[in-house]
Amino acid sequence: MIVRAHGKLNLSLDVLGKSPDGYHDLRMVMQSVEFGDDLDVELREDGQFSIDPGRWYLPSDGRNLALRAAVLFLEGTGLGASIRVNKRTPVCAGMGGGSSDAAAVLRALNQLTGAHKSAQELRDMGLKLGSDVPFCVTGGTALAEGRGQLLTPAAPLPDCAIVICKPAFAISTPELFGRVDARRSRLRPDTPGILEALERGDVPGVARRMYNVFEDVLGRRRGEITAIKSQLTALGALGAVMTGSGSSVFGIFTDEDAAQAAQAALSRHYQDCFLTRPSRALEV
Ligand code: C5P
Repeated sequence: MIVRAHGKLNLSLDVLGKSPDGYHDLRMVMQSVEFGDDLDVELREDGQFSIDPGRWYLPSDGRNLALRAAVLFLEGTGLGASIRVNKRTPVCAGMGGGSSDAAAVLRALNQLTGAHKSAQELRDMGLKLGSDVPFCVTGGTALAEGRGQLLTPAAPLPDCAIVICKPAFAISTPELFGRVDARRSRLRPDTPGILEALERGDVPGVARRMYNVFEDVLGRRRGEITAIKSQLTALGALGAVMTGSGSSVFGIFTDEDAAQAAQAALSRHYQDCFLTRPSRALEV
């Protein structure tokens, strides 16, 4: 079975505090996009597990989140799985590539085995793998709170063009959380304003309010992120922001031609530069 692992973007990301378990209390508006990986998932009667991760530098053992998702789902059934990933989503990009692959494996195995688990059961399973996996089970547009697993569906982002651009460097997620902790006062995203703009179907209103608190603690890497954001807005984006813990930045366009031109322009300097659209929540 071939399944799409949709990329995820953060329309906003706020860190509210730190929990005693070491995780952070987050408030994020998440959006899935058409762009993503394709996974070929097959059941194995012999109980063995294997994965072709699609990139030489990605693990094909127990460190691979998609493989771990298969082991978790099939625990106690005697069945195994082989997975082949057609990898497109850049790694360490803040686009939930690994989380979305894991969620796609859970969806595929739910169908292939006829287990008929609910979306919530798959999300609960997904949380054992990572904080972004529960959102990726069905994607769409959602408010994510807690570790990222407390999901409230939001009004879908109306169709628009999205240009994503990833600079060559990667950013460590735990390091950014540590820097946010050390910061006393900071700007915060207008999360209710984004949710209201989504309700109205107001794409410019959403784009204008996009904000990610991690951008304020990037240190020396901030310059390149800011430069990409400025290029995107100069080329017609209604707003641009970094997604997750970066390093990808995306801009939202209502003018398709401008979005195409922006992708072409940024592609001259950046290898990972994609033009995509929002995707709607999936059925499980
Ligand atoms: O859950 P996941 O394994 O994706 O998280 C990766 C890292 O991000 C965690 O080890 C933690 O440092 C940080 N994190 C956090 N609070 C969250 C989600 C992730 O501190 N809500």
